[in-house]
Amino acid sequence: MIDLKKEIAKSIAKLENIEIEKIEEYMEVPKEKNNGDYSLPCFKLAKELKKSPVSIADEIKNRINISSDIVEKIEAVNGYLNFYVNSNILIKEVIEEFNKEKENFGNQDIGKGKNVIVEYSSPNIAKPFHIGHLRTTLIGRALYNIYKTLGFNTIGINHLGDYGTQFGKMIEGYKRWGNEYDLSTNPIEKLEQMYVRINTLCKEDESVLEQARENFRLLENGDKYCGDIWEKFKELSLKEFDKIYEILNIKFDVVEGEAFFAKRADEVIKALEKSGKLQKSNGAEIVDLTEDGINTPCIIRKSNGSTIYASRDLATIIYRAKTYNYDKNIYVVGNEQKLYFEQIFKVAKYLGLEQKYVEGLEHVWYGMVRLTTGRMSTREGNVIKVKELLDESISRVKDIMKERDIENKEEVAKKVGIGAVIFNDLFGNRIKDEVFDWNEVLNFNGETGPYCQYITVRCKSVLEKAKYLPEINTVKYEYLKDAEAINVIKTISNFKETLVRAMQKNEPSILTKYIVELAENYSNFYNNNQIICEDKEIQNSRLYLTYMTKIVLEKALNILGIEVPDKM
Ligand code: ARG
Repeated sequence: MIDLKKEIAKSIAKLENIEIEKIEEYMEVPKEKNNGDYSLPCFKLAKELKKSPVSIADEIKNRINISSDIVEKIEAVNGYLNFYVNSNILIKEVIEEFNKEKENFGNQDIGKGKNVIVEYSSPNIAKPFHIGHLRTTLIGRALYNIYKTLGFNTIGINHLGDYGTQFGKMIEGYKRWGNEYDLSTNPIEKLEQMYVRINTLCKEDESVLEQARENFRLLENGDKYCGDIWEKFKELSLKEFDKIYEILNIKFDVVEGEAFFAKRADEVIKALEKSGKLQKSNGAEIVDLTEDGINTPCIIRKSNGSTIYASRDLATIIYRAKTYNYDKNIYVVGNEQKLYFEQIFKVAKYLGLEQKYVEGLEHVWYGMVRLTTGRMSTREGNVIKVKELLDESISRVKDIMKERDIENKEEVAKKVGIGAVIFNDLFGNRIKDEVFDWNEVLNFNGETGPYCQYITVRCKSVLEKAKYLPEINTVKYEYLKDAEAINVIKTISNFKETLVRAMQKNEPSILTKYIVELAENYSNFYNNNQIICEDKEIQNSRLYLTYMTKIVLEKALNILGIEVPDKM
């Protein structure tokens, strides 16, 4: 297929004597339809061409040499150049390309040969899986799928929080009161209660705290009794987490934990000693980061010699560089750990690693979740139970659909209820706080998961009603020239670029918003055109458009982790 954007960029590049790639990078797809299909913000060239954006736009518009078979119209508006592509060529190119790729439409190979780690979820054992963990889980999975679709070799890692001095306390609590708590039901809740209790006791009684420290030391040194208790906590927690992963259909390539890397913290110490960056401070070992613009030093080893969160993460970086030879190592973790990641990424410069491993580190952070309605809104954000929230969504959907006549209602309600939560989580810009409002999340007519699933289901039922898929040579482009059809085609033609942008910004919401746009455009097309009709050429053309829409919508939703039922 000819790349229309590239064709336009070529003509501009030739005229102004600038590299095509640069022009292509500057060009954007305007948000407003009445700003054309592609637009060039000329201020980006102002420095280079030493002219005002307005005169650059005028000049290019007047002097550009581009066939009207490619571009129908060019407008210069306030220093922007807006290009309207010729719809004949657009329709032809999109349909022909789609026909070649079908289900693979959207797949690309720009990531070929590159290794990307996406670390996501990473809950703490013996602690609740809170709503923040839900966000990292969903954003991480979406990013993982986006990178995969673009051809990257992607490694999804669940980096469990299974280590730290608090486990010394937990073990002490278990030793004292283990038989008071029945861990066969709601184990995490009970472990949490036990933790609160032992923590209070540690504050009151120094000797208990001393014992807790001793437990952790024993655990670190491979003591069997402490190790067994710790294993038990881990097993119980993973069982609970798995319930959530199962309902959300979350998978990881690797599940490892901080404990594994605690054993490798010596490598970090050695590397930092070698670079001369390790300093003693009140018995602890630290790296001063003032030269790197960070006032808080990074503690590497505590005065009692034990590892800490940062040293375990640094050991992880060394390990991942060696094991996965990563080009990117992405951490999907909440914004409350921003300073922390800035620190360890700076310290990573002094580990003696190849430059590419330092440059490949990226903290992909996200905002908090606020619940505005429903039973759980009054509780503290952190205590919202994720499993209950997901179950509630499913049961609310069941309620909404109770009058509908559909088979496998249970299955459908699950796909819609879970899909709604995922969509809501991935709809807003990830760095913004998310507002969770049941009326919004489950609004079948809003910019929501259920709405987009519903439009996809509509495509499926149109195709089912027709009972056949039209051959490409029976599709007549002239029947797809109404404004509504063209909007659908244009949106489909932007699918690949949308995936690339979502990847570049590590921003699943770019894809989520795209899905809404395609669903809305198709809905307008559907409302304005009779698809199953007398004239078979018209029918075939409209069916083909429906088929393309169905494939792209379902694929994009699946990338986000949302499944589409056959009926709803
Ligand atoms: N377990 C941590 C928490 O729940 C998140 C871990 C993030 N990943 C990392 N490599 N530090 O807050």
